[in-house]
Amino acid sequence: MTENSMRKEAKTIFKPVVLVTGCASGIGLALAELLYKDLHYRVVITARAGSIAALKNKFPENERFIIRPMDVTKAEDRQQLISEINSLWSGVNVLINNAGISYRAVVEHMTAEEEQMQFATNYFGPVNLIRQVLPHMRKLGRGKIINVSSVSGMLAMPTMGSYSASKYALDGLSEALWYEAKPLGINVCLVQPGFIKSKSFLKVRYSGQSGPENEMNGTYADYYKYMTPFIEKFMRLSFTTPNHVAKKILRIIKKKNPPLWNPATLDALLFYYLRRFIPRRLLLQLLFISLPNIRLWALAYTNLKKPKS
Ligand SMILES: NC(=O)c1ccc[n+]([C@@H]2O[C@H](COP(=O)([O-])OP(=O)(O)OC[C@H]3O[C@@H](n4cnc5c(N)ncnc54)[C@H](OP(=O)(O)O)[C@@H]3O)[C@@H](O)[C@H]2O)c1
Repeated sequence: MTENSMRKEAKTIFKPVVLVTGCASGIGLALAELLYKDLHYRVVITARAGSIAALKNKFPENERFIIRPMDVTKAEDRQQLISEINSLWSGVNVLINNAGISYRAVVEHMTAEEEQMQFATNYFGPVNLIRQVLPHMRKLGRGKIINVSSVSGMLAMPTMGSYSASKYALDGLSEALWYEAKPLGINVCLVQPGFIKSKSFLKVRYSGQSGPENEMNGTYADYYKYMTPFIEKFMRLSFTTPNHVAKKILRIIKKKNPPLWNPATLDALLFYYLRRFIPRRLLLQLLFISLPNIRLWALAYTNLKKPKS
């Protein structure tokens, strides 16, 4: 066998190592299903310890597909997993930061600890993983970092401030990293889903003050009263399922030079263009008047004049 054909064969049998976080449900689980069937990759799917048994039941492990516990907020989990992958398969070639949580609360109803949890999961966990996989990608001169962000990283909505802030942070970091990584042969991509037809709204987190166990009266009662069904309605009406987003991620994994921004639902695409073509000030006002019954919010609690009926 000539050196050339050996190199060719090595190239054809090379199976990039893909690491996906947050595979217990939703997009992560749908992506795990696709990757389980795709023999071109070696795959590490991860979830918090409590979900591992169910995942192992669903996906019997084999020589190219393994399942490991990892809470993205825990430094020791991240460290242990990356060391294991480094010794087993030399390192990660494609990192998919998918795990995420979403608090539903107005800014005044969040505590510092709750903000910390929001950011630990959606920002600090992903960034620390990025730092841990970059050295191997740099050494190879190739690799992909795919961060699952959100339309909430393009536009912020009331009662979703902390979630938006965490996704804006992830988007900002990804944009800077795109410049830093490109000369090194590494692609950085943001996948930006909007409303998805899934049960993930059942997993929404409430702050100590915003949860349904609180008697909702006072200044912010209308905010939750109108925003919660508004968001859930759009999720129900959406045509996009977690599987659609997972397929989009798989296409990005396979694409040679995928773009930084990848809107993943119709509404995300719409907002992507609205933000580009409508002046921000105007868009802000347009979105404000689109909020359900916005003129009535907190009416009894402000010194604003009531609208004429
Ligand atoms: N669904 C949407 O409408 C939507 C829209 C835009 C963006 N996104 C983004 O898409 C990504 C996936 O969300 P999804 O829709 O698939 O929702 P999901 O079903 O709630 O999935 C999120 C996954 O993240 C995991 N997770 C949460 N905290 C974790 C932690 N500390 N360590 C490890 N895993 C953790 C969850 O595991 P547990 O089950 O153990 O909690 C779950 O498997 C998220 O980043 C989300 O922000 C979703």
